[in-house]
Amino acid sequence: MKRTKALHLFSALLLAGTMGCNLSRDAASQTGQDVVSRQVTEQHRPQFHFTPPAKWMNDPNGMVYHKGEYHLFYQHHPGGTTWGPMHWGHAVSKDMVNWKHLPIALYPDENGTIFSGSAVVDVNNTSGLGTKENPAMVAIFTYHSEKLEKAGRNDFQTQGMAYSLDNGRTWKKYEQNPVLKNPGIRDFRDPKVSWNEEAGQWVMTLAVLDHIEFYGSNNLKEWTKLSEFGKTAAAHGGVWECPDLFPLSINGKQKWVLLVSLNPGGPNKGSATQYFIGDFDGKNFKSDNPMKTTLWLDYGTDNYAGVTWANVPKSDGRRLFLGWMSNWLYANEVPTATWRSAMTVPRELKLQQMSEGVRLFSTPVKELQKLRTGTASLKAQEVNGTLNLSERYKLNSSLLELDLNLDVSQGQEVIIRFSNTKGEHIDIGYSVTGKELYIDRTKSGKMGFKDTFPGKHTAPLTLENGKLRLHLLVDVASVEVFANDGKTVMTDIFFPTEEFTKVELISTGTTRLQDSKAYSLKSIWNNPA
Ligand code: FRU
Repeated sequence: MKRTKALHLFSALLLAGTMGCNLSRDAASQTGQDVVSRQVTEQHRPQFHFTPPAKWMNDPNGMVYHKGEYHLFYQHHPGGTTWGPMHWGHAVSKDMVNWKHLPIALYPDENGTIFSGSAVVDVNNTSGLGTKENPAMVAIFTYHSEKLEKAGRNDFQTQGMAYSLDNGRTWKKYEQNPVLKNPGIRDFRDPKVSWNEEAGQWVMTLAVLDHIEFYGSNNLKEWTKLSEFGKTAAAHGGVWECPDLFPLSINGKQKWVLLVSLNPGGPNKGSATQYFIGDFDGKNFKSDNPMKTTLWLDYGTDNYAGVTWANVPKSDGRRLFLGWMSNWLYANEVPTATWRSAMTVPRELKLQQMSEGVRLFSTPVKELQKLRTGTASLKAQEVNGTLNLSERYKLNSSLLELDLNLDVSQGQEVIIRFSNTKGEHIDIGYSVTGKELYIDRTKSGKMGFKDTFPGKHTAPLTLENGKLRLHLLVDVASVEVFANDGKTVMTDIFFPTEEFTKVELISTGTTRLQDSKAYSLKSIWNNPA
């Protein structure tokens, strides 16, 4: 009881750290202003990525759109800057760009701490927890019982439920939790629930050790097992976590996409997310991927546990994704002082037919364009050597979006280098001979906090006629690379001792720069939400 109260006080303080104009609207206290200005200037504090106001954050949870708001809950340890007893932090946004922080939504209880999970709006009131007029927002999450774990039992992860009747502002735990008990498997978690039209019921996609299990329910309260998938499919370098299952259409046909995060075992070590494309008949998932082929959503080291928003209106029709921009290899050690971790930018996922098969493409959502403050159209030219873009186009910001169309058919290697006056830099490169996209952060600044951090991370990328489109989003501590319209994506974080403000294009052999743009971006702190 005592503990809950102390935490409520803490979250009231957090609330003061609201982004956007809400500070003035919601009566900005002196404390609130102080918190915001500290966050704006803190070293390594992302300026247009979602971060918790303070303390630890990992996976995005409960992403659901409701009544004009995108809800983002997240794994949160309000008592420290490293992973600890999990709660669900909470924020809302009208555009997935500017965020308003809300009090902690879910606290641990006698069933355990609150691990990852999802949220839905029960529009038909199948659960009876709301009404048709005011449907309940229902969160389905994993309870992690440290007590049972310490007692040496294997059934310490179960699925629980909580609901809100006031747009996610206050939450009640379901009285008969857990709603899905554990059959004796240590890794049994991260339920992603969605309404399945084909089966006319709710389907829960659950990560179970080294595979996925599907469960069905008419009322969100009682669940029966439908099927299993994936024990021998694709990557198994680590435990499977945080799945998502959703339909996307291609060539007028509906396919199903299954996202599965795994840790470790990523293409560049540590945590990463793979995906499957196939069919789901309401009960079984059948993958089109050849059994041993692994498809990666993002080849960088820093996009993990990402899932998509539920309940996005049909009139919008997009499949919107957000991931945790870190990696379990070093997440607890990154050199930030008052908080830890950021989310990726929100991305739209789409299927595209390629000669090698259907692939999942990611692109930054169009709402991010409102961050653009200045535009430079880059002159079409041939570069052989170094072109200083920041000097030539007066890009004197560390917050940048570059959309470069390059023809590298006459080149060997092209690098986009972001650097500071100390010579620290991050390279985004393409090796024509190696047919490889890469991010090299070996000289990007602070490195000593973990030996697994420095590295050159690569992704295979074959070009057609030497055409390379590099769409980059650079914040003070991250780069997101969307190559060739989002076919190959890489996300990496970095920690320079001073911000990167110089941008160069370095070409070995000839690179043709065509029809390219650079945008200075603004910070989301103190912007109207
Ligand atoms: C993924 C994960 C989930 C789990 C949560 C705990 O990063 O390990 O499987 O629910 O983090 O915080």
